[in-house]
Order: sequence, then C-alpha cells, then structure tokens
Amino acid sequence: MVGTRLAQDDGAGHSPAAATDARGALDGTSLPAWTYRSEAFFARERAAVFRPSWQVVCHVNDVPAPGDYHAFEFLGEPLVTIRGRDGGVKSFHNVCRHRAARLLDGDRGNCGGRITCPYHAWSYGLDGALVGVPHRASFGAVDWAAYGLAPVEQEIFRGFVFVRLADDGGPSVAEMMAPYAVDLAPYRFEELVPQGRVTLRPREVNWKNVADNYGDGLHISVAHPGLTRLFGKSYGLEAAPHIDKMWGDLQDTPSRNWSEAMYQRLLPAVAHLPAERQRHWMYFRLWPNVAFDIYPDQVDFMQFLPVSPTQTMIREIAYVLPDAPDDPWRREMKAARYLNWRINRQVNAEDTGLIARVQAGMASSSYTTGPLSEDEVCLRSFARRMRSVIPEACLEREPS
Ligand code: FES
Ligand SMILES: [Fe+2]
Repeated sequence: MVGTRLAQDDGAGHSPAAATDARGALDGTSLPAWTYRSEAFFARERAAVFRPSWQVVCHVNDVPAPGDYHAFEFLGEPLVTIRGRDGGVKSFHNVCRHRAARLLDGDRGNCGGRITCPYHAWSYGLDGALVGVPHRASFGAVDWAAYGLAPVEQEIFRGFVFVRLADDGGPSVAEMMAPYAVDLAPYRFEELVPQGRVTLRPREVNWKNVADNYGDGLHISVAHPGLTRLFGKSYGLEAAPHIDKMWGDLQDTPSRNWSEAMYQRLLPAVAHLPAERQRHWMYFRLWPNVAFDIYPDQVDFMQFLPVSPTQTMIREIAYVLPDAPDDPWRREMKAARYLNWRINRQVNAEDTGLIARVQAGMASSSYTTGPLSEDEVCLRSFARRMRSVIPEACLEREPS
C-alpha cells in the first residue's frame, strides 16, 4: 500500500465548459488508448501542451564561461542557451536570421567571442546582436538592428535554465514549484555542477506512457523489487496542481542485493541536509514532462521529449555538489553515487520493459480505458489535466 494524498484541482483553467461534465464522469479513468498513438492527438499536444510548457535546457553551471553553450532541440525547433560576456545566461533560437541555417552544432560547446554562421558568415554577439554581415552594402537598406538572434522566453529556477516557446499565461517554474519550495531549499540547487553529460535514450512509446509510469505508485511493489527492498512501505505520492511528488525513506534492514546494501551502508551523512532528508529520496514531476530526482547524493533531471505519437526521447543528466578534496566523506559519497546509478539502472530497465508492454497493449482493439485506483493520485491528476487541456481526451475512441 502506498501512502497517498488527494490531488487538488488541476488549476489548468483552459478547458471549454462543455467538457467539464464529461471530465467529472471520467475522473478515475485512464486516458484512452487512442491518445497514445494518434497523429492528430499528438499534433494537439504539441500545440496545447508542449509549446506553452517550460523545458529545462541545462544548469547555469553547465555553461560557466563566456561563449559556453548548450544546444537543445524541442518540437523540431533548434534552441541554444549561452553564457554572455557580462556573465548572464540567455536563450535564443539557434537559427541564423539570414537564411535560417542552424548556427551552433552539437549538444554543447564554446563558440568563442561570437556566433558565426557557417553558411555566409553572418556573426552575432553573445548577447544575440547581429554584429557582422559580409557584403553588407549589397543588401541595400536593411534595418540591421532588427536581425539579432530571436530570443526565447527563459526562466532560471534555482540555477536550472528553463525555456518556453509560447506563453499562454500559465505559471512560471517557480510558481509551479512553490508548494515544494521548502522541500527543495536545503539541496543548494544553485551550486550544483554537472556530473558527466546529458544522455539521450530513445523509447518506442508515447510520451504519456513514460509520464504515467513515472507517477504510478501501485507498480512499485510489483515490478521494482529493489525499490521495495530499499523503501519498504514508506513509498508515497501526492499531486499538487502543476507538480507531482513521490518519495521514500531508506530502510535500516540491509538489502540482500549487493548494490542496495552497499548504498545503505556507505551513503554518508550530508552536512547541509536536515536529519529527515539524510536517507530520503524524492521525485518531482512538473507538468507536463520534466522530472527531478532528488537524492542525498545527487540531483538528476529527466525529460520525456515527444518525438512522434509512438516515440519519446528521454533526456537526462545528474548534478552533484562539488566536494572539497579534504571532505572526509568524499570517497563514501563517490561510492554512493556509483551505487545509486547501479540501483537506478536496474529500475530503469524494469520500467523500460513495462512501458514497452503498455505501448504494445495500447494498439489492441480490445482496450479503450481502464479504472484508476483512488491511490493513484498522480495518474488521476495527469489524466484530468490532459482532458482539461484537450477535451477530445474524454472520448473513448478517436473521433473520425
Ligand atoms: S544563413 Fe546564416 S549567414 Fe546565411
Ligand atoms: Fe517504475
């Protein structure tokens, strides 16, 4: 039995009133299978769910020096976050204003003092201003000041850089996170530094399948024997308007699994965390597709990027607090991070099998929707919000 708290109102406030009754009747029912494979529904999601959503690009400490950048493609749009000469971090469309060539390559790098287009060598300052145009006189009268890089809306939340393609009046990241500001405060997000680099893991499933799995509480004791050994009955979940939270406390009983038992044994005390967080794992999922996994030893973000109705790219990276060479717990912390990775590698493998199994079932003509337990507050909250934003999600079958 998982510990749960009831979901509050979804707060989306975007829905046509006509859909309200249908949504109420469907509360406690999973989203219909067709929404996990439909091209038309996927197009609606791109416009109504993803363009107005906040997406994490990187941490400001991923781009410490002027000219450092992180490129990020979202919904087919090339974007880039870059550190300026003034020390500030800005995000732009990674697209030349001349004839649209993508500017910066790869997922990260340093472009020096300016961004130069590989096609005709227009160049831009790190602040996005157009500073160089070969053969400028041949263009005639052009308002060159209007041809700086197109900015993309950006919010830096506790060191993490978020961007959003469209502003539909929805809340900021800080507003979404507000119910858990106290929970997050001790983890010193602003000081985190990347451990390794962003990894991309393609999955042949709809993005909602990954999102559902992330917030599904009832499968833990069935499908994750490692998490069950580590957390026993302490695993809990709750849903706030824009954010879901899951958590568990490490049990004292040593696991019979080597990685888990060693993690239990070696995880050192963390000076900046309060007592109740020393052996506590927390997971947060921000609407719609960004997750933070918060451990005493590290913080990961994970995004479920929609690629097609049946393809998702999982993008993730771990961050740690830099430890001083004389920290007495340094070796234990390093070992704990490795063991955490081993434990979660196994959990990921289990979830990968589960989501593939569900995606296969979503293709069956026998299945439309299924009932959701009252304990599944995150699944219920997510389904309610999806039906609110896209009322067609109330329909059992795809409209013709
Ligand atoms: S497309 Fe960039 S300079 Fe021409
Ligand atoms: Fe899982």
